[in-house]
Amino acid sequence: MNIETVMVIGAGQMGAGIAQVFAASGYQVSLYDVDQKNTQKGIEGIDKRLKKQVGKGSLSAKEYEEIMKRLHLANEITAAQKADLIVEAVVEKMEVKQAIFAELDSLAPSHTVLATNTSSLPITEIAAVTTRPEKVIGMHFMNPVPVMKLVEIIRGLATTDEVYQAVYETTKKLNKTPVEVHDFPGFVSNRILMPMINEAVFTLYEGVANEEDIDQVMKLGMNHPMGPLTLADFIGLDTCLFIMETLHKGFGDDKYRPCPLLRKYVKAGWLGRKTGKGFFTYE
Ligand code: CAA
Ligand code: NAD
Repeated sequence: MNIETVMVIGAGQMGAGIAQVFAASGYQVSLYDVDQKNTQKGIEGIDKRLKKQVGKGSLSAKEYEEIMKRLHLANEITAAQKADLIVEAVVEKMEVKQAIFAELDSLAPSHTVLATNTSSLPITEIAAVTTRPEKVIGMHFMNPVPVMKLVEIIRGLATTDEVYQAVYETTKKLNKTPVEVHDFPGFVSNRILMPMINEAVFTLYEGVANEEDIDQVMKLGMNHPMGPLTLADFIGLDTCLFIMETLHKGFGDDKYRPCPLLRKYVKAGWLGRKTGKGFFTYE
């Protein structure tokens, strides 16, 4: 199984980061978003980050040129016809992901592996809408993608060993560390992280402390690089809520009940950094 050409679907913070690391590791990459403004913004963000590296001397001007040459903006989802591997990174909603997987299944060549960067949704259920469930797999990158070393790899019920191995090897070529995780809601990362974030929101909701102080406790007391509310804003409050809902529904246990304050912020359109307002305000 030879992976040379990669397509990334969704050019938000995760999709753009994923496209960047593939291009930086020598893959030909096309980046597609349903909203072309986001694709443009995604490519501009990559350009800015790489130029910063050139400025710092950690990337040469020649390497920068080569990476940018390997990155292609796809105006149509039909670019899937040329991909060996497709990584989907759109909104964390089952119905949206299933619609995309059904379309990709009809467009992509039969050898193409369809991966999802879902944070919490069952891989098996996404794979079920395709005619190739054996080639569907979870490839869960962490945010910010160019910095974080981990990729959780999740097989669906039908994923073959050959596909798993190809994705495992590809992850290593990206200079990331693959960890195999079974197909349960939230996998390992978000089953542990997201209830902590949700509890931080409850702590705020119940007036135990203010936003700054909750974050300060976890940063200075537990050596977390970001406080949980800053991290929630960084991830996106919509994504945090969708993940909590998946855990709540998937396990049927009220310990995963999303905090009403999290729901309220999402309803208000306060989604964190990406909208300029969440638990904190951003320029
Ligand atoms: N994109 C790309 N690179 C970034 C970045 C971003 N958004 N933010 C920071 N960086 C890079 C910087 O350019 C810098 O690179 P160099 O060392 O090459 O100069 C490096 O990261 C360190 O940045 P800073 O010095 O500016 O800031 P920092 O030391 O505070 O680190 C951080 C920033 C790495 C984001 C750190 O705060 C951190 O680790 N935060 C926690 C991140 C985390 O927990 N991620 C997981 C989220 S959960 C998830 O991803 C799963 C899910 O499904 C929700
Ligand atoms: P985001 O909101 O930044 O970006 C999502 C992008 O998907 C947007 O640009 C949107 O226009 C695009 N999109 C929506 N519907 C589409 C469609 N039908 N076709 C093509 N593009 C479409 O979201 P994000 O934070 O990048 O998250 C994307 C995925 O990655 C989610 O499944 C999320 O759970 C997962 N994830 C997020 C994080 C995180 O920290 N934010 C970490 C790991 C995994």
